[in-house]
Amino acid sequence: MPVKPTEKIWRNGEFIPWEDATLHVMSHVVNYGSALFEGIRCYAQPKGPAIFRVHEHAQRLLDSAKIYRIEIEYSREELVAAMVELVRLNRICPCYIRPLVLRGYGEVGVNPFKSPTDVYIANYEWGRYLGHGSTEGVDVCISSWNRLAPNTMPTLAKAGANYMNSQLIKMEAITNGYVEGIALDVNGYVSEGSGENLFVVRQGTVYTPPLGNSVLAGITRDSVIKLCHDLGIPLVEQMIPREMLYIADEVFFSGTAAEITAIRSVDKISVNRGLTGPITKSLQHEFFGIVNGTGPDRFNWLTPVPVNQPVGV
Ligand SMILES: Cc1ncc(COP(=O)(O)O)c(C=O)c1O
Repeated sequence: MPVKPTEKIWRNGEFIPWEDATLHVMSHVVNYGSALFEGIRCYAQPKGPAIFRVHEHAQRLLDSAKIYRIEIEYSREELVAAMVELVRLNRICPCYIRPLVLRGYGEVGVNPFKSPTDVYIANYEWGRYLGHGSTEGVDVCISSWNRLAPNTMPTLAKAGANYMNSQLIKMEAITNGYVEGIALDVNGYVSEGSGENLFVVRQGTVYTPPLGNSVLAGITRDSVIKLCHDLGIPLVEQMIPREMLYIADEVFFSGTAAEITAIRSVDKISVNRGLTGPITKSLQHEFFGIVNGTGPDRFNWLTPVPVNQPVGV
């Protein structure tokens, strides 16, 4: 479904009409993929809209820009304030917030220093990503495509160009009848899904690949790690061989889009007889309790959006 336009988009410090947020086809980003972005969820809580870990997302955007030598004239807190104000103005909740930094219209050559930098923030209505994922679990495959090799495309930067690799993983998975693909890194160790981090449970311990295995430093990944510590569930960041997925007691994805989604089979080998396992269930229970506002926000993960009128989709 095409994205449903909202009223405003934030561009370089100003709110402009949705239709005016356009680019020239000869912009640097169109030719060379020079964009950095974030994806953030704003939840509809009983007390009103609340944005999940918005400070951490704004920081990751600034970190991505730093890696690519892009100077952003807005501070982390200015970006956060812009997102809060955008959600308030557009009155869409729940929603997905998409900050974007891109190299715009300047010279056409590869040298990015010759093009201006633009910062945009849009928000729009968005539901569940991996379909029926969070309640039933999804069927996934190991992709024939590897994740980005170290020292080629930096995976700690959330860059648009990285998602050319994600698109290959996703298309292959869908073409073969799976919901998602899991990529291995160039050394054959488990890395991540096309747009999610991965966790494996075996004999009561939760495992996830370390940042060195070409993964994005997911904010939801960090939330799962913190929840495991809090719940007293042992968690180890270590390299994971592919076959560990086949003998795992539980496997699940984490991500802004996927939230916490159970995996019920990998390469048609079933995980826990296709049922969501107890550790995944308790992490989902804690996570959804916090984001939906039915449990206390004990980690201070939510930033409320002040609204003086009801927000609707
Ligand atoms: C490649 C990739 N890995 C992991 C994630 C999960 O990161 P986060 O939890 O910050 O959304 C995402 C989604 O942004 C992603 O695109």
